[in-house]
Amino acid sequence: MARVLSGVQPSGDLHLGNYLGAIQQWVANQGSDDAFYTIVDLHALTQSIDPAELRRRTLETAAGFLAAGLDPNQVTIFVQSHVPAHPRLAWLLECTATMGELNRMTQFKDKGRGTESVRAGLFTYPVLMAADILAYEAEFVPVGEDQRQHLELTRNLAIRFNHHYGEVFVIPEATIPTVAARVMDLQLPNQKMSKSIPSPLGRIDLFEAPEDIAKKIKKAVTDTDGIVAYNPETKPGVSSLLDLLSAATGTSPGDLAAKYTRYGDLKADVADALITLLSPMRERYLHLMSDPGELTALLRRGATKADEIANATYERAAAAIGLLPR
Ligand code: TYM
Repeated sequence: MARVLSGVQPSGDLHLGNYLGAIQQWVANQGSDDAFYTIVDLHALTQSIDPAELRRRTLETAAGFLAAGLDPNQVTIFVQSHVPAHPRLAWLLECTATMGELNRMTQFKDKGRGTESVRAGLFTYPVLMAADILAYEAEFVPVGEDQRQHLELTRNLAIRFNHHYGEVFVIPEATIPTVAARVMDLQLPNQKMSKSIPSPLGRIDLFEAPEDIAKKIKKAVTDTDGIVAYNPETKPGVSSLLDLLSAATGTSPGDLAAKYTRYGDLKADVADALITLLSPMRERYLHLMSDPGELTALLRRGATKADEIANATYERAAAAIGLLPR
């Protein structure tokens, strides 16, 4: 069984981009891989977040994983900060990474915008992500397109470490879906749908009420030429609706485009398909959130299993780099 690891920041509600870009693949492959899925609360600290909100969202994200279809008997779900090997390994890797390579990370450039007040943790964020992955000897990392550069850095850090200190790390590979790897904002179709952009009309949250989903799709930005065609460059809004329908139905966006002559009909079908896809998840989510005790117990079990594996990797890396055993 291939070892797999991926994660989500508990910095906002899970949205359709998180599901179609990442979580859907996790659910589809459970049972055929040995998977670890983590709620990366330490990463959420790289931007301003209220302590009580962080705690609440960490639990909500865990409920979201289960509601979206992950089965805790088949995969390991845990909170990143419950496993001390993550920041410990991150430090070893930080001491092999260079300012130059971290400066080239586009996510830092976008979020940090070069300001003095940007948190140092946001700069070193990709190294902590590398530690998340390498600690589990993950061969595959199922993520959306926006994480591709982080995976490249992870591979480079692992290769460099192995070269200098001996074969400690497995070199991981990103697995990025062929459809909906980059779900776009419904109001700003040239930007990805994101937790951090305050655009309630542009984002569909995973456990949103059906009437709100219908309203947002109805209001989604298209264009004025009135032709249903798939071309993300010239028709980003319409193409993004076709991508959503494609991800929900399994038919290619080009084939779907040929079936429609009016934006209104396309939008109605996108809304119906999304509501059909998401409604059962919403029911499960509301049910799970009514019993947080069960979620906490499940996360504790997950952390125990994760801790064993991650700590063993950390110990090997620490020994290889020259730290004296305790
Ligand atoms: P995060 O929390 O921003 O997103 C979680 C997952 O959702 C995917 N995603 C999208 N996919 C398609 N379209 C979108 N609009 C969209 N928005 C988000 C992301 O690609 C991701 O797979 N750095 C990571 C968290 C992380 C991690 C890790 C991931 C920390 N450690 C180790 C994998 C392995 C992040 O901020 O994801």
